[in-house]
Formats: sequence, C-alpha cells, structure tokens
Amino acid sequence: MRIVIEITYLVSSIFFIFGIKYLGSPKTARKGNLFASIGMLMAIVITLFDQHVLTFEWIIIGVIIGSTVGVILAVKVPMTGMPQMVGMLNGFGGGASTLVALAEYHRINPNYPVDLGLPFNLPIDQGIAIILSLLIGGVTFTGSMIAFGKLQGLVTGRVVKYPLQHPLNLILLLAIIAGGIYIVINPGSISLVVIITFVSLLLGVLLVLPIGGADMPVAISLLNSYSGIAGSTTGFVLGNNELIIAGALVGASGIILTLIMCRGMNRSLMNVLLGGWASAGTAGTATGTTSPKGDVKSIDAEELAMLLDSVSSVIVVPGYGMAVAQAQHAVRDLMNVLEKKGVNVRFAIHPVAGRMPGHMNVLLAEAQVPYDKLFAMEDINDDFSNTDVVIVIGANDVVNPAARHDQSSPIYGMPILNVDYAKTVVINKRSLNVGYAGIDNELFFYPNALMYFGDAKDAMTKLTNEIKNL
Ligand code: TAP
Repeated sequence: MRIVIEITYLVSSIFFIFGIKYLGSPKTARKGNLFASIGMLMAIVITLFDQHVLTFEWIIIGVIIGSTVGVILAVKVPMTGMPQMVGMLNGFGGGASTLVALAEYHRINPNYPVDLGLPFNLPIDQGIAIILSLLIGGVTFTGSMIAFGKLQGLVTGRVVKYPLQHPLNLILLLAIIAGGIYIVINPGSISLVVIITFVSLLLGVLLVLPIGGADMPVAISLLNSYSGIAGSTTGFVLGNNELIIAGALVGASGIILTLIMCRGMNRSLMNVLLGGWASAGTAGTATGTTSPKGDVKSIDAEELAMLLDSVSSVIVVPGYGMAVAQAQHAVRDLMNVLEKKGVNVRFAIHPVAGRMPGHMNVLLAEAQVPYDKLFAMEDINDDFSNTDVVIVIGANDVVNPAARHDQSSPIYGMPILNVDYAKTVVINKRSLNVGYAGIDNELFFYPNALMYFGDAKDAMTKLTNEIKNL
C-alpha cells in the first residue's frame, strides 16, 4: 500500500505542476484549475488509505464543515472581496500547519500532557521541522487574519507605526530561534513549545499591522508563499512527501507572484512591507483629488457615441474602477455594439491593474469577452499611437504618464500603458480623485484627453444605448 500511496502522490504532484503551468495564461487557466483540483482529490483520497488513519469520524466531520464553508464562500464572495478571501484561506493553511506540528510533537512526547521527566529522543531534523512549522505557520495565521481584517475594514487599513517596531520584531524572531534550538537539544519542554507558538502568533500580528491596507494584496501574496513553506515544513514533520512537494510549489509560486507584482509597481518588496507609498498617508484611502493643472474637457454619453461612430479602432483599458462598479458585462455590451459597426475593439491589460493579479482578465472572462481580445501591456503598448480612441474605464495609476518622466513621483519607473499616445483618450471615472498610489494624474489635463464622468457601469450602459440609438 505504501508504494501505491507514494506513486499516487507523485502523479498528483505532476498534476499540480501542470496546473500551475496552465494557470499562467487566461486561455488555459480553467484547465489549470481543473488539473490542480484533480491532483488535490487524488492526494486526499489516497491519504485516507494511510495506515496512520485510525478513525474516519473526525475526518468526515471536517470534510463536511470545510466543504460547506468553501461552497458558501465561493458562491457569496464578490470578485472585489477576493483578496481578503485568499488572505483568510492562507491563514487557515498556516493555522493548520501549526496545529499539525503541535499535535505531532505531543504525540511523540511521552511527557504529554504532564511533564513526567521521561527521556525523549526527538530526531534533529524532525525537531527543526516542528519549530519551523510553528514559526512560519503561526506568523502566516495571525498575519493573514490581520490582512483579512484590514481589507474587510475590521482592522484599521492605515499604516500602524509603533515604537521600536523593527528591533522588537527582530528580538521576537531571535527569541523563537533560540527557543527552537533549545527544544531541539532538550525536546521535553512542553511549556517552551507553547511559548514559541504564542510568540510566533504575536509576530504575525506585529509584522502585518504596520502595512497599509492598500499594500495588502502584495502582503497577501507573500503570506500565500509562507503558507506553502509552512505546509512543506509540516510535510517534513509528518514524513509526507506530497505535503513537502505541494507546499514547496505554493511557496515558490507565491514568492514569484509577489516579485512580479512588485516589479509591475516598480517597488521593492521591502518598500511594500515597510509601508512605502502608504507611509505617505495617501494610499489605501484614495480620498485626495487632483489639483488643477489646466482645463479638463469633459464629454457626455451622446457626444462620445457620436465620436465613436466615426472611428475604426478602439482600445479599452480597464482598471480597479471597473471591478468596483462590476461594469464588465456593460463593457462587453459596448464591445459588441462597436464591433457590429465594424470597429476593431481590443483590451489592454496592465499587469497590476485592479487589486490582484489577473483581476481584469478574470472579470472580462466572466463577462465572456473572448481571450484573443485581451492583450498584455508588452503586446499592445506600441499600438496606442495608431489607435483612434482609447477608453480608460476606472483605471488611474496604470495610465499615469508621470511614471515616465516625473522622478519625484512615487510611481516613477513603473511601466504604464501608453494611452496618451492615441489620437483621443477618453477617461471614465466618477471624479478627478486619485487612485491607489494616492497621486495626481496629469493625463486628465492632456489636450487629447476627454473625461467621461460617472460610475463605470452606468456610464458604459448609457454609452451603449446612445450608440444603438444613432
Ligand atoms: P487605481 O489607480 O487604483 O484607480 C482606480 C480608479 O477607479 C480611481 O481613481 C477611481 O476614481 C475609479 N473608480 C472607483 N470606483 C469607480 C466606479 N464605480 N466607476 C468608475 N470609476 C471608479 O486603479 P488602476 O489604474 O487599476 O491601478 C491599480 C493600482 O493598484 C496600481 O497603483 C497598482 O500598483 C495597485 N496594486 C495593484 C495590485 C494588483 S496585483 N493588481 C496589487 C496591489 C496594488 P474615482 O474615485 O474618481 O471614480
């Protein structure tokens, strides 16, 4: 049976690897999800045949509760709530690693629950794995819960600074490492293991609390990586190869995703974790307004419909506002009427548009916009200068030309979509308010820019109706 289990683990790991590979492109993402799910199902089912399983009752209860909660969350949580949901799920992963490591430590400790002073031999590798699971799992659990609370508005979304923040965190980390070394040498001390667990949980709170709520998507991606590493170390605790491999895959892909997000924003990971933009007191609140830098020309639905009546090429640039307004279906309808008139409509997707990786792709896919209409920034950026009209829908930072030339701007150096190179750029948003980075956008005052004010869903619906009425 052992051989069958190990071979099944290997096959399921191959499914995970293909799953991740397919998730790399919107066209194959559904297939990727399916592959990863099949791999997970295989891993779960075969684990039930492990001789270590003594009773199925608790497992069945866990499966029923977990599946019910999972189905409810999947149906109820809106796309805009996805970052905090992912944050919470990472936390559960970290919490599970902590609990498994604690349970395994107590199982093999003859002194549990009362310290009888019995000799106890904990192999060094297992001891290190237990301590790492407690540390990383604990930090991931509380850190993710704080991240969830910040994005859900349950905990302040602001940057929270406290005295001696970094030295304190460093001291706690060193204390956990010192305690861990002691446990590996003298494994019997149950109370020290409990202390290490609590300090790890505290460290998670202290590490994530200072991060501005708006920087949380990057922190969540990093915590996702931590949850994978915690799972992997727990695999070493249990001697389970599948957990080691799956955890390592999550850990590695999470860190790659985190770095891609940072590169897309032209920020270092340290800058995000130490509250870079947010420390300017703007990000996450986005309440500022653009200070006047000239005249803003606005356009209404009827005028815009007439403008679009005479064009042959349009590029749509979606941003966070489209997600907030849930305007993706209205945008698809607009695409359909324009295409009926013979207009070539394409979508330009910035890698960090919205608030999570692939945010725009997921929304547009949900509205059944064909994948071949979606173009990544590097594939379409040279085409803006040959385009009649660009329609920016609820995007702000990702089209801010200051990123190209204003060295004092916090987004200086961030790659942007060259929408201002088009003949005309129409920007739909509700006001001149700032976006995520909390900075002004000079694009609104460019001579070829027209502001089309309003909620994205209403504005796109009105525009589509006007075009139909022409
Ligand atoms: P933002 O720069 O955040 O701008 C979004 C704009 O949408 C706002 O200025 C807002 O202006 C408008 N808006 C809000 N609700 C709207 C509605 N109902 N209808 C129409 N417009 C609405 O968005 P972006 O251009 O997509 O840039 C994304 C930002 O998030 C970047 O700075 C990026 O670095 C950051 N970020 C992204 C990620 C990922 S992975 N995507 C992760 C972390 C951070 P009004 O209030 O005037 O309407």
